[in-house]
Amino acid sequence: MGLPSGTRMAKLQRWEAFGCFLLISCLLATSALALTDVEVAHIVRRQLMNFPPNDELPDEAEYEVKVNGTFANHRLKRAYIGLQALKKAIYSDPFNKTANWVGPDVCAYTGVFCAKALDDKNVDTVAGIDLNHADIAGHLPAELAMLTDLALFHLNSNRFCGIVPKTLSRLTLMFEFDISNNRFVGPFPEVVLTWPAVKYIDLRFNNFEGKVPPEIFEKPLDALFLNNNRFVSTIPETIGKSTVSVVTFANNKFEGCIPHSIGKMANLNEILFLNNKLAGCFPPEIGMLTNVTLFDVSSNNFVGSLPETIAGMKNVEFLDVSRNKLTGMVPESVCKLPKLSNFTYSGNYFQVEPNTCRLPSRKNIVLDGTDNCLADRPQQKSAKECQPVVSRPVDCSKDKCSRGSSPPKPPTPKPPVHPPPPPSPVPSPPPPVYSPPPPVYSPPPPPVHSPPPPVYSPPPPPPPVHSPPPPVHSPPPPSPVHSPPPPVRSPPPPPKLAIFLPPNLGFDYSSPPPPMFPGY
Ligand SMILES: *[C@@H]1O[C@H](CO)[C@@H](O)[C@H](O)[C@H]1NC(C)=O
Ligand SMILES: *[C@@H]1O[C@H](CO)[C@@H](O)[C@H](O)[C@H]1NC(C)=O
Ligand SMILES: *[C@@H]1O[C@H](CO)[C@@H](O)[C@H](O)[C@H]1NC(C)=O
Ligand SMILES: *[C@@H]1O[C@H](CO)[C@@H](O)[C@H](O)[C@H]1NC(C)=O
Repeated sequence: MGLPSGTRMAKLQRWEAFGCFLLISCLLATSALALTDVEVAHIVRRQLMNFPPNDELPDEAEYEVKVNGTFANHRLKRAYIGLQALKKAIYSDPFNKTANWVGPDVCAYTGVFCAKALDDKNVDTVAGIDLNHADIAGHLPAELAMLTDLALFHLNSNRFCGIVPKTLSRLTLMFEFDISNNRFVGPFPEVVLTWPAVKYIDLRFNNFEGKVPPEIFEKPLDALFLNNNRFVSTIPETIGKSTVSVVTFANNKFEGCIPHSIGKMANLNEILFLNNKLAGCFPPEIGMLTNVTLFDVSSNNFVGSLPETIAGMKNVEFLDVSRNKLTGMVPESVCKLPKLSNFTYSGNYFQVEPNTCRLPSRKNIVLDGTDNCLADRPQQKSAKECQPVVSRPVDCSKDKCSRGSSPPKPPTPKPPVHPPPPPSPVPSPPPPVYSPPPPVYSPPPPPVHSPPPPVYSPPPPPPPVHSPPPPVHSPPPPSPVHSPPPPVRSPPPPPKLAIFLPPNLGFDYSSPPPPMFPGY
């Protein structure tokens, strides 16, 4: 372990100086509460400038690992280097979570979990880092990639900023990656596409922008959270290949049609499209989603009628089509769906409502058809508001989103076929999608539909899971879903429990994260 050569030393010093600079940038941005575009560009530029060229990592020899004591093995030494780099990239750690990140026993560090290496049962390695809810401000250093046995990375509800380093493609065992509720920026972090075994990707409540790559739906994922970012993208046709049980697009600027392929999503339980710019008619294939329990397309620009095929959603409990520009008749079959507990169709231009929806046959079913154009019903739009829309209903058999199966071409800003009523503020799309988050769903409703049972056997973490319905927007909600952080270990926060690596993880991993209410 020779001393770093001159140039290497210079490089290291540059990295260190940079870390400091960057963190100050983060802190300043933090104090201002929001990052301005200029600040963001600045932080990213600095972070990029200081990432190693060609994504190469400095080899260990470049680090003068001065530590009293010895490492149990080579991998733990590399882990030490990665963890120390992370610690150095932290500017503020109000709960002192990383205060004990000192010395060679990395397995004793708070938030660091060790397990036997998958490829060598005689060797301990760092398999997980869980710093959920630590309120830490910092950034992710390229050296994090030295933790090559990392399978679980939970960073939700902190103040990390900058971008997700490309070097993390070396974390080939990554299984659960949760960086939700931070201040990450930049395009979709494509490095996640390189992980062969990743099952759970949680990016919600950050400032990612641009397109969502079609390849993400070809990964064997169980859950994908994209909500509350700044994505401006169509929903890729590849969504039909996705194995996810939960996917959230909510509160971004997704546009275009819902792809026909959606009907092929065999494992789907919950899908949230709410509050985007999606448009056109619904593809009839949504009726093939027989296992879906939650389907929320509210606050978009959908037109036409609800397809009769929706009767196929035999397991749907929560169905929200409110605040669109739907017309015609509410299909009779909808209100007869056996598991339905909350069907919200308010804020549209429906003209006919079947008796099944007026007088539901079951109790405990919440139906809301206000603010439509229903005759003889209370709280409806005025004739003046309805007339321009209902007199020119969209014929979905001719609509490119519902007809044929050629992939709808991108940006289908689908102008509402009929200009929405003049000043009628009613269906006017929700407020600015992010930043001052729309108040739209403010009082997060009590979790109606039961959360997907924690697939995970051991005592499911306390029910807190979805309970405190996260304050949807505004200051990023507490802990996004995954709250009961590391599902990987059983009892909630027991200090140090064995964590299982991917193969063992299998079903132990608490898949469908909690119910995602508003926005989740
Ligand atoms: C190692 O131990 C020596 C003597 O106990 C102490 O002076 C030094 O600061 C220690 N170094 C580290 C990195 O803890
Ligand atoms: C963290 O450590 C600092 C300095 O030792 C101390 O002042 C502060 O109270 C600690 N905070 C917590 C939450 O323990
Ligand atoms: C619904 O779920 C069941 C049980 O998990 C599964 O066997 C079935 O194939 C699913 N149905 C569809 C249409 O995906
Ligand atoms: C039903 O769903 C709507 C729309 O999301 C929500 O606002 C409402 O609170 C829910 N009602 C109940 C009783 O859960």
